[in-house]
Amino acid sequence: MCSIIGYYGKEIAAPIIVKALKRMEYRGYDSVGVATKSENQIYVKKGIGKVAEVNESLKLSNLPGNIGIGHTRWATHGKVTDENAHPHSSNSGKITIVHNGVIENFTELKENLQKNGFTFKSETDTEVIVNLIQQNLSKYSDVKKSILKTVSQLKGHFAFVVMFDDGTLVAARFHEPLIIGIGKNSYFISSDVLGFIENTDDAIYLDNGNIMIIDSSDLKIFSFDGTKLKKPITKVAKEFADVNKGDYAHFTLKEISEQPDTILKAGEDTLEALENMVDFIKHAKNVYFTGSGTSFNAALLAKNLMSKYAKVKVEPLISSEILSIPESIEPNSILIVLSQSGESADVLEAVNIAKQQTAKILSIVNSSLSSLVQESSLVIRMGCGPEIGVAATKSFTAELAIIYKITEKLCEGCMGIDFNKISEAISKVLTNHSKIQAIAKELKQVSDIYVIGRGVHYPIAMEAALKLKELTYIHAEGIAGGELKHGPLALMDSNVYVIIINPDDSTYTDTITNAHEIKSRGAKIIGVSNKNNEIYDHWIQIPKIDEPMYPIIEIIPIQLLAYYSAIEKDTDPDYPRNLAKSVTVK
Ligand code: G6P
Repeated sequence: MCSIIGYYGKEIAAPIIVKALKRMEYRGYDSVGVATKSENQIYVKKGIGKVAEVNESLKLSNLPGNIGIGHTRWATHGKVTDENAHPHSSNSGKITIVHNGVIENFTELKENLQKNGFTFKSETDTEVIVNLIQQNLSKYSDVKKSILKTVSQLKGHFAFVVMFDDGTLVAARFHEPLIIGIGKNSYFISSDVLGFIENTDDAIYLDNGNIMIIDSSDLKIFSFDGTKLKKPITKVAKEFADVNKGDYAHFTLKEISEQPDTILKAGEDTLEALENMVDFIKHAKNVYFTGSGTSFNAALLAKNLMSKYAKVKVEPLISSEILSIPESIEPNSILIVLSQSGESADVLEAVNIAKQQTAKILSIVNSSLSSLVQESSLVIRMGCGPEIGVAATKSFTAELAIIYKITEKLCEGCMGIDFNKISEAISKVLTNHSKIQAIAKELKQVSDIYVIGRGVHYPIAMEAALKLKELTYIHAEGIAGGELKHGPLALMDSNVYVIIINPDDSTYTDTITNAHEIKSRGAKIIGVSNKNNEIYDHWIQIPKIDEPMYPIIEIIPIQLLAYYSAIEKDTDPDYPRNLAKSVTVK
């Protein structure tokens, strides 16, 4: 979701900015823009489309100057148009901004500015910020004072970088990510370490309520009350350097293929935190799990596994729902937060609410320097490396691996989990591409897919449906097997495909009964199981393994199926339309 990059240094800024925007493409966007400063003149170019396309047509990289800002926009206020793309300039043309977030009081601010003679070219809240800065600058004639005044007038969440025509760069952060990369004679201000990792691994993490000013003298950081701050330079984790597709056609395929390894690493470098989390769960009055999207599906499995095997009651809550009903979190509880990015706005807001309800925040996170990590008392790291594909794959199984480890400790080894066996089974599934590719060719024509699972397989059915939606744009729904007769059966006909998640375990017979009910209405059946059955039109074989370990294995062929169906439909599996990797706005 919206990526920001600013560059201040000795090199030509534009090509560096374009490259940084390409590296952050995975966050999701619909338009691109770059502004640079050369000899007290600001140049701006922007348009709808992918970074490479817009660069090709507008020659963004050819802009002159050693200072610049760039942006990829994911539309919130205003349609996807060239005018709404960032950067936005103030009426004087002397100040330019890129911004991520939502300004809640922008209508009111805009009306006031209009009363004072300001005009607007776009529908964005961003153009309001830059004109507010111009208004405040003409009042105070001081960059720092004008920025402090501006941030005090804004309501909402924001991160922005502003470039003045004298070359001064200013950034502000409030509940949206912003990191400064410190290079040799150069500074990078970015939403994401991927914006500068090729150039430097030294970084300063701005906190909420910080502003940064870089001018010809040096870099200074202040809090929103104007106090000067000293911030440590941190080494960015080496894992972030590994962001190439290698020989894979897409990041999504690479990340699916890494899972035999990533499930082994999950949580391994934070084992003490894992032990402590188990302890917290044992002694807590109430335990809630929360997350959004894929991470919420992992929370659903946490509930099923923990009640089934450890007899521990936990409650899964969708993060955005906590915002509507804060009372769902009882005082003095623990909230276990699952998030790949650690930056999802709904998740951070849920954390905020839970803290107000005196809950303790324990997290399972991939991005180890994220906002969520800063908000948590205890952190287990997924350790699966950067996940670039928008649809979560390896982070989902890393979340599951950690949930398995916790459950196994809670039930004192009752599940007999063997991660080497799981890893081998996943490797075996990953050799089965041709069968899955053949099924993907059929799915290309289909408009509805249902995925059925019972018990511990139901959260996997939900996640399978989510992967199919995200990657193929086909309508897909996860259904608990027992619910079939209570509605969904009315939808079954010969145009429908149903994926049955059905390993040979205690749910097998009831799920086969579902398959018969569906088949007799003409729908086609894809069985995901270690055991074939004549009812299946297609059988996707998974290896036989001890019962508790099936869920983490059975999602793998469906990830592959979603990936290959996307290829068949000619959609981009790494960057699905309308979606963003880090959803940093509510
Ligand atoms: C976005 C992504 C989803 C992801 C969700 C939660 O919606 O498109 O794929 O599951 O965010 O992300 P998180 O980083 O908090 O796990």
